[in-house]
Order: sequence, then C-alpha cells, then structure tokens
Amino acid sequence: MTQRVALVTGAMGGLGTAICQQLAQAGHKVVAAYHPQFDNKDAWLAEMSAAGFNDFVCVGGDVSVLEDCQKMVAEAEAACGQVDILINNAGITRDRMFAKMEKDGWDAVIATNLTSLFNMTKQVSAKMAERGWGRIVNISSVNGVKGQAGQTNYSAAKAGVIGFTKALAAELAAKGVTVNAIAPGYVATKMVMAIKPEVLQTIVDSVPMKRLAKPEEIGYACSYLCNELSGFTTGATININGGLYYQ
Ligand code: CAA
Repeated sequence: MTQRVALVTGAMGGLGTAICQQLAQAGHKVVAAYHPQFDNKDAWLAEMSAAGFNDFVCVGGDVSVLEDCQKMVAEAEAACGQVDILINNAGITRDRMFAKMEKDGWDAVIATNLTSLFNMTKQVSAKMAERGWGRIVNISSVNGVKGQAGQTNYSAAKAGVIGFTKALAAELAAKGVTVNAIAPGYVATKMVMAIKPEVLQTIVDSVPMKRLAKPEEIGYACSYLCNELSGFTTGATININGGLYYQ
C-alpha cells in the first residue's frame, strides 16, 4: 500500500490516541496534533513507544486559532511532507442546561469543535485537490445527530460538522478527495467519564448494547474511511453508537 501522511487533531485524548494507533497500524505516517496546554506529551509518547508506536511526529497548537493551524500544518509538512489525511477530532464539552449556559461556554465549544474545521481543513484541502488524492474525516457525535439536553452548544457544533462535511464533500468529489463524518455515541474516554456517575448510568442504560464504545471501535472506522478502497465513500456520516440512535 501507499504510505500516506495523516494528521490527527486532539491526538492525545482517548479517541485521538485510538485513531493515531489505527492509522499507524494501517501503515500511515502519523502526525499527532495536540493542544499546547496539554502537559503530558512526553508521558503520552512514552506510552505510545511502549505500545510499539515509535515514530509519531507531534505538532502543538490550538485548533480554534487559525495561525496555530497554519503553523501546525507547516511543521507537519516540513517533517513528513504533504498531509494526505486529515482527521478533525479535537473537541471539548462545556455542558450546561441552556438556561444556565453563558456566552463563553457557547463560544468555546463552537470555536474548538466547529470553527476548527475551517482552520485546519483550509490548510490542506486545496493541496489535496491539486494532487488528486485526500481523505478528510470529521468527528461529529450522536448528540449532533439527535440533540442532547445540556448540550445546545455541543449539539449545534457537531450538527454543523455534518453540514460542513456534506458541503465540502460535494465541492471535492470530482478531485479525488473524500470528506466524511463519524458520529460516535458515548465512548469510554475522559470526556464521557466526566459526566456525573448517576447521569452516565442513565445514559449507559439507554444504549441498547448497554455499554460504552471502546475508542478503537471508532478509530477502526477512521482507518476504514482512509483506505484506498473507501474512495467512493464521500459525504457520509457513519453512526457508531451501540444502537442508541439511527437516522
Ligand atoms: N432531558 C430533559 N431535561 C433534563 C434532562 C434530559 N435528559 N436531564 C436533566 N434535565 C432537567 C432536569 O430535570 C432539571 O430540571 P428542573 O430544574 O426542572 O428539575 C434540569 O434539567 C437540570 O438538571 P440537572 O440537575 O442535571 O442539572 P445540572 O446543572 O446538575 O447538570 C448537566 C446539567 C451538566 C447538563 C447534566 O445534566 C449532564 O451532564 N447531562 C449529560 C449531558 C451529556 O450527555 N453530555 C455528554 C458529554 S460526552 C460527549 O459529549 C461525547 C459525545 O459526543 C457523546
């Protein structure tokens, strides 16, 4: 197979880690983009090495800041060459009922979870189109598909991710660049474990499979969408949620 350069945002979180590992296992060169305030980079790299992943390249920056995204992609290109695969995975929650939600919680979630797609994708999509090959995978959420009380900000951003995906897929379909979304349900990551235990129990009870997703069950779909043989799949949203919701 052709080795591609894959840049993953939010790479050092639960989902990002699984995505990096699956893409590396599929033979790609992985660039792990992480937030500069994340202070466990060295520990993460050591953990990756211990698991047999020795050559992840790291680039630091805030995906909600356009200049940071320009810098991260420039660093990735300098280290590895052109970016062929972009996984827009970085995301945050600021859950509050809408009545209590403040503007800063709204702005932060929209900037990190949605504006980041403009900031990152802008750096690579035209070059992918020029080369006639590219894969862009955007991580949405079941809560962007169905809406979730306590998450007007997050649900709006993650629904926006799906709209962005469909529109850009249409623009790039004739250029060899596919753009798809994955809408994970509740995955066993720090983000989900931050939900109050009694609320989380109710959520797990409502999942037909009665469990959280393993991060690698989402990473696998990423790897699938980046495969050569996924070249006819574009504009799609893959729901991976244990039967919690489907359209
Ligand atoms: N639907 C409708 N109303 C609800 C509700 C629901 N699911 N859950 C709670 N409410 C109501 C309550 O009945 C209560 O109403 P009253 O004030 O009239 O009694 C009101 O909302 C406040 O409820 P809480 O006591 O829960 O309020 P809180 O301030 O303590 O907590 C919250 C609010 C932080 C949003 C909490 O409800 C929560 O964590 N909910 C879960 C949100 C969620 O699913 N987040 C997913 C995070 S992980 C993720 O996002 C990853 C992914 O992609 C899936």
